Amino acid sequence: MKSEGPIGIFDSGIGGLTVASSISKLLPNEQIIYFGDTQHLPYGSKSFKRINYYCSQIVEFLINKNCKAIIIACNSASAVASEQINQQVKKKALVFNVIDPVVDYIKNAKHLKQIGVIGTNATIDSNVYAAKIKSFRSDIKVSSLATPLLANLIEEDNQKLYTKGILDSYLKNQILTKIDSLILGCTHYPLITSRINEFFNSQVEIINSIEYVTNKIKNNLQSKKLLKTNSEKLKHHFYVSDYTENFQKKTELFFSSKIILEEVNIF
Ligand code: DGL
Repeated sequence: MKSEGPIGIFDSGIGGLTVASSISKLLPNEQIIYFGDTQHLPYGSKSFKRINYYCSQIVEFLINKNCKAIIIACNSASAVASEQINQQVKKKALVFNVIDPVVDYIKNAKHLKQIGVIGTNATIDSNVYAAKIKSFRSDIKVSSLATPLLANLIEEDNQKLYTKGILDSYLKNQILTKIDSLILGCTHYPLITSRINEFFNSQVEIINSIEYVTNKIKNNLQSKKLLKTNSEKLKHHFYVSDYTENFQKKTELFFSSKIILEEVNIF
């Protein structure tokens, strides 16, 4: 593991770009290698076996690119494949998921008593948030709701009115009526934060993993002396398993400079 190595980030689609753009702002000296598994989106509706397989191939690809750290920028993959990825990577790179930093925040957020979680079927079925939160805060009620259509809608276009209609009908679910906070348990959802806030009249704390995740990565790389030391700017690389114009356009939402997407076949 070398400090000059890139940071590998992956997701099924554009969700992980929310993490990648935040890393590039917080750590502008670092080089990013991004992989969007657009061929297999959405992960949230796949079996755990398939998700594990996709992740293992992507992780191998990122290790071969000499990544010093791998960020699983997808809740579904974090929920299902974290353990397998840790075993696969061993000491070759640091591995970060997007769930633990949120759980760490909740550990000390004593003002939170009734937390809602929304995410894909895979994330909600894994029960990972409720199990982790409950293991150290028995005073908290966790209400989890699968919102499987959202990631695809956001991938297509989060500004559309039907996205609002479907989002509202999910959030109206009585399971969420008394919550004081809501975990966005999918890296696509930060793109509709304002719509979620609007629904709750800003009365519910929206917990977005990105800030917690990126801070954790920075602190870890710093303490392990793995932040890049030379200031030579290396270009980020963005790979997808299935190139589409739509994905290419979406990258412009996150990065000001033009991104060249490269399609690779790793499966
Ligand atoms: N961005 C992924 C996540 O955080 C979900 C999208 C998908 O289902 O592929 O779970």
